[in-house]
Amino acid sequence: MGMPAVAIEADDLGLTFAPASAAPTVALETVSCRFEPGRVTALIGPSGCGKSTLLQIVRGFLDPTRGQLRFVEPADGRMAIRPAMSTVWQAFNLFPWLTVVENVAFGLDLAGVPRAERDERAHRAIAAVDLTGFEDRYPRQLSGGMRQRVGLARALVMEPEVLLLDEPFGALDAQTRLVLQEQLARLVETSGTTAILVTHSIEEAILLADTIVVMTARPGRVAARIDVELPRPRSMATTRDPGFAALFDRIYGLLRDEVMRAMVSGGASA
Ligand SMILES: Nc1ncnc2c1ncn2[C@@H]1O[C@H](COP(=O)(O)OP(=O)(O)OP(=O)(O)O)[C@@H](O)[C@H]1O
Ligand SMILES: [Mg+2]
Repeated sequence: MGMPAVAIEADDLGLTFAPASAAPTVALETVSCRFEPGRVTALIGPSGCGKSTLLQIVRGFLDPTRGQLRFVEPADGRMAIRPAMSTVWQAFNLFPWLTVVENVAFGLDLAGVPRAERDERAHRAIAAVDLTGFEDRYPRQLSGGMRQRVGLARALVMEPEVLLLDEPFGALDAQTRLVLQEQLARLVETSGTTAILVTHSIEEAILLADTIVVMTARPGRVAARIDVELPRPRSMATTRDPGFAALFDRIYGLLRDEVMRAMVSGGASA
């Protein structure tokens, strides 16, 4: 945040897992797509199509086996260095032995941020996800939704240039999910962070994203790239917009074909 953001370009990116003891798995075939700076891009596609793999390549935890990932200056296309990133992974990963505020401040501690600034930023991030008053609780004393908000606060507190979200609300009940989606929509609208959101929910993608990338069944490729023109701020009321319904149907149509294909081929290859 604050810094001029860079664009992230995947150029014919592919990844084949080739474990010594098992047959290789093509997780990503050839993915070409661009993640615009300061924008939210949602990745949606059938289970196993390589969404988490793509996120891990962007994060720098996996190397592609073909193609390239590039960070570029949006103005002139020059190569840029890897921006600072934070991730909210698919499962909660809070430290159970640390309190809420200690969990949130953990990354700042590692980065050597002075105590006063650390505490100030941690409390601001906790307030941003509506957890003020719960600073001294331990994760086991919180509900699933609250834990997920701590995970979000822990990512936001680092003020990353790029925020990677891998099904951040996947494990939550429908109502909690709605509330958190609205909260996250508000946060992305005000922060200007570049975000990549992996989700199985078409509704969540439309609510949060500027662009939705629909992926094919494994091995993953880009099936469609759809811009979401619905006005912001977006909330549950947005779901009653006729534009929402049209977009939903279009994405559902694309996904339905891909999910069917995944089910047909799924039995033959694990
Ligand atoms: N470390 C690994 N070794 C071997 N194969 C892997 C590994 N990680 C993932 N895969 C395989 O790569 C493919 C893509 O996995 P990935 O986790 O990226 O899918 P995904 O789109 O995130 O799925 P989901 O929606 O279920 O989270 C899957 O077939 C998976 O089994
Ligand atoms: Mg995944």
